[in-house]
Amino acid sequence: MKDLHRVSLDAAKVLRLLPPYPVVLVTTGSNIITINQVAYFTFAPLRLGIGVAQTRYTHGLLKTERAFVINVPDASLLNAVRLCGSVSGREVDKFAAAGLTRCPALKLPAAGIGECGAQIECQVDREMAFEERTWFIGPVVAAQQREGHTGAAALTCGREAYRLPGDLVTPR
Ligand SMILES: Cc1cc2nc3c(=O)[nH]c(=O)nc-3n(C[C@H](O)[C@H](O)[C@H](O)COP(=O)(O)O)c2cc1C
Repeated sequence: MKDLHRVSLDAAKVLRLLPPYPVVLVTTGSNIITINQVAYFTFAPLRLGIGVAQTRYTHGLLKTERAFVINVPDASLLNAVRLCGSVSGREVDKFAAAGLTRCPALKLPAAGIGECGAQIECQVDREMAFEERTWFIGPVVAAQQREGHTGAAALTCGREAYRLPGDLVTPR
C-alpha cells in the first residue's frame, strides 16, 4: 500500500470521523427532549437506549416513569427539534411552545408526538450510569408509523448542522 501521509487527531475531533447520529424527540411523562445519544443494545428482543445527562429534567422523569417514546421527526420539525433541545421542561410546556400535538401511545401511558412520522415505545429494564450520563435501556413494546413514512426522512445531526441520511450504496 502506498505510504499515505497521516496526521494525528485530538480526541475531541474523533467524533467528526464518524457519520452523523440520528436525532429524535423523546417523550416521557408530559415532557419532550431532543436526543442524539440513541442506540440499540440487543436485537432479540430489540432493546433501545437513550443517553441522558443527569442534569436534565428528563433524567428525573425517566427514573420514575421507567418508559419513553422515541418520536422520529423529519426536516419540517427542525424548529421543534431545536426548541426541545434548548429549553427545559422544568420551565416550559414544550408541547405547547413547539406547537406539537400529543398522540396516545399504543402500550405506554406516555404520549407520543402526532407530527412525527414514527413512534417507538420502550419500557426501561436496564440503567447504566457513565460519568455525567445515564443510559436508559429497554425493549421496544410497541411501535407505529404514519403510512408512507420511511427512515429516509429521519434526521441526523453532526456538530454544526442537521442532515438527512445520504445515498443508498450496496456492495458489489
Ligand atoms: C441536537 C441535539 C441533541 C441532543 N442530544 C442530547 C442527548 O443525547 N442527551 C442529553 O442528555 N441531552 C441532549 N441534548 C440536550 C437536551 O435536549 C437539552 O438540554 C434539553 O433542553 C433538556 O431538556 P429537559 O431539561 O426538559 O430534559 C441535545 C440537544 C440537541 C439540540
